[in-house]
This record gives sequence, C-alpha cells and structure tokens, in this order.
Amino acid sequence: MPEAVEDLPAGPGREETFGLCAACHAYRLVSNQGMSRERWDETLTWMTQRHNMPELQGADRDLILDYLAKAHPQKPPSLGGGFRQPF
Ligand code: HEC
Repeated sequence: MPEAVEDLPAGPGREETFGLCAACHAYRLVSNQGMSRERWDETLTWMTQRHNMPELQGADRDLILDYLAKAHPQKPPSLGGGFRQPF
C-alpha cells in the first residue's frame, strides 16, 4: 500500500498529487481507485465541493489529472479488475 511518495509510480505530478491528496486522507483512498481521466476530474470537483479541497484550475489541475489517470487508470473489465497497469 503506497503511503510514501516513493511508493508511487514515478512521473510528472507525483509529488504534487501525493502532497495534495494525502493532506486529508491516506493516499490509499486514492490508489485503491482506478478511473478514467474524466472520472478523476469529477472526483476533484467532488473533493472541492464536498470536502473543501482547494480548487485546482488550469495547469495545476491538468498536472494532477494527468498523473492520476496514468498512475491509477481505469481497470480493464476483461482482466477481472485486479490488474494494475504498470507504467
Ligand atoms: C480538504 C481535504 C481533502 C483533500 C485535499 C482531498 N480529499 Fe479526498 N476525501 C476527503 C474526505 C473527507 C473523504 C472521505 C469521504 C467520505 O467519507 O465519503 C475523501 C474521500 C476520497 C475518495 C473516496 C474514497 C472512497 O472509497 O469512496 C477519493 C477517491 C478521494 N477522496 C480522492 C481524492 C484525491 C484524488 C485527492 C487529491 C487530488 C483528494 N481526495 C484530496 C477529503 C479530501
């Protein structure tokens, strides 16, 4: 279970994503999920509206979304959902 930034797949936005999302809850809540970029986008909006996450816009939002979609992609249903896409 990734609880330190070093446990996460390397990539642009890794530190920013971990720092932001792990500020309020275990990063595990994020890494347990696998979603498309659109669904991650909705999740960010939900975090902002429901849980008072600072609103992310423009390049900052793109950076986080790109990282989330790449590190925690939607799981292909054909593989039973347990498959983690390696980088
Ligand atoms: C300001 C605080 C705050 C920040 C920052 C925050 N969250 Fe959350 N998040 C919460 C709270 C509180 C919950 C618990 C929701 C609940 O109990 O339903 C939660 C729950 C979640 C869940 C749901 C887990 C589940 O099992 O349904 C996901 C996914 C999630 N957060 C993703 C993120 C992501 C991705 C980020 C970073 C971009 C983030 N959160 C940043 C407050 C925050």
